[in-house]
Amino acid sequence: MILHLIYDSFDFKSWIIFFFVFLLVADIIKNRNPSNFPPGPWPLPFLGTVFTQMDFKTMNKLAEVYGNIFSLRVGSEKIVIVSGHKMVKDTLITQTDSFVERPIVPMFQKVYKGIGLALSNGYVWRTHRKFAGLHLRMFGEEKKSLEHKIQQESVYLCDAFKAEKGPFNPMTILNSAVSNNIACLTFGQRFDYHDECYQTILRLDNECIKLMGSTKTQLYNVCPRLLEYLPGPHQTMFSNYKIIIDFLRGEISKHKEDWDPANPRDFIDSYLTEMEKKKSDPEAGFNMEGLVISCLDMFEAGTETTATTLRWGLLFMIKYPEIQKKVQEEIDRVIGQSRPPCSSDKANMPYTDAVIHEIQRFGDVVPLGFPKKAAKDTTLGGYFIPKGTAVSTNLSSVLHDPNEWETPDTFNPRHFLDENGQFQKREAFLVFSAGKRACLGEQLARQVLFLFFTSMLQQFTISKCPGEELSLEGEIWFTYAPAPYRMCVSSR
Ligand code: HEM
Repeated sequence: MILHLIYDSFDFKSWIIFFFVFLLVADIIKNRNPSNFPPGPWPLPFLGTVFTQMDFKTMNKLAEVYGNIFSLRVGSEKIVIVSGHKMVKDTLITQTDSFVERPIVPMFQKVYKGIGLALSNGYVWRTHRKFAGLHLRMFGEEKKSLEHKIQQESVYLCDAFKAEKGPFNPMTILNSAVSNNIACLTFGQRFDYHDECYQTILRLDNECIKLMGSTKTQLYNVCPRLLEYLPGPHQTMFSNYKIIIDFLRGEISKHKEDWDPANPRDFIDSYLTEMEKKKSDPEAGFNMEGLVISCLDMFEAGTETTATTLRWGLLFMIKYPEIQKKVQEEIDRVIGQSRPPCSSDKANMPYTDAVIHEIQRFGDVVPLGFPKKAAKDTTLGGYFIPKGTAVSTNLSSVLHDPNEWETPDTFNPRHFLDENGQFQKREAFLVFSAGKRACLGEQLARQVLFLFFTSMLQQFTISKCPGEELSLEGEIWFTYAPAPYRMCVSSR
């Protein structure tokens, strides 16, 4: 009876208001934080903190206000951001088992489908990580063949620099050279720097990394069902990935034609063998789709990161010519000009080693790492983190933590040198993250950085183009990359 009276007295406007208030209350109840949840900016109804940019600079500013553990809400997904060496170490190392899984991020889920290597979880991730780790060790350490391939590639890289007449942007050459290391490992071949099809793939992938970091693209994560049908940068990203994935499928098909299980040439061949072995264990996810996504993981994780680090490296050498000169003096003393650098030279080159580490620290290439999620209810820094909450570790805040670094905001290779000028490791050097989910390609990346960097400075002096100013301010993509710049090289 009462309900009937209320119904009769409501006009259309009242119904709209009633409906809105109902949704608002439902939203508040659904998204209310459990007690002792990390603090954070006040979320908007329905949208959460979607207008807060998700880049590391904004995260650093928010950490100043809310502390080293704070939270945001994207749509109805809560995300906890952890900053500073102590808390990041606690998350990644002390509590590694609690934060070993990846959350579902709609934009990644659409492309990577939660399979393969970098964005999978559970048994699929464990078996794929073990398999890929073995492959990297076999081709990298035991066969020594990879070092030889990297040395050969540095010859192509330096030849391409030599062929440039006048100022040039090193980005395309560095991307091509670095990606060829991954191509050798994965597809068993390198690609010519003028191969148009491969260059298109590299360009599209580069665009994807840029788009991933943009707030407009990340809107897809708030409302994937709606944005699926709307135009926008997310659509460009998805269509780029489709082309890249088709390219990978093509490489896999070519491999299948002359695959010899007794004689694996590369990652694809080894994976095809593993597929046969794991036929009775479908849960491990070794199938055609797993292979495609694993190749994409290797290609993406290994190319942009390393090439961007080298771009920062050359930029710093231009900005600090006295440091460049000291590296060259060490190269001349230890290696000379008559032979190419090799990995074992590193032990005798503490200054160069320190400079490369400082390039990585100051370049800050993967500032927020890859996201994780809590595998169980847990506590961090005294706050309660419920099972399933996404957690992002601000690696940049560790690499610039004033409690760890003498001059955190200055490019200073002495961070990695002891009082006798010998190389010293630093615990807060977390560029490759840490714990069970740490970068799988760390050894390969270190080898490539050392061999490419020393080869370039052995052969060239890098300098600024007359009249052009260079900025150390980077651009925020998924990675943190230097703004495009041009440089001049002169043979030594
Ligand atoms: C300078 C170069 C590189 C940097 C700075 C870098 C950094 C990182 C970081 C920060 C992560 C996230 C770890 C985490 O979730 O805690 C990661 C993951 C990963 N990296 Fe690298 N990386 C580099 C090069 C490479 C290379 C060359 C490869 C190729 C083999 C590679 C393969 C991977 C893979 C497969 C993962 C995912 C691991 C997993 O989820 O288990 N990375 N990397």
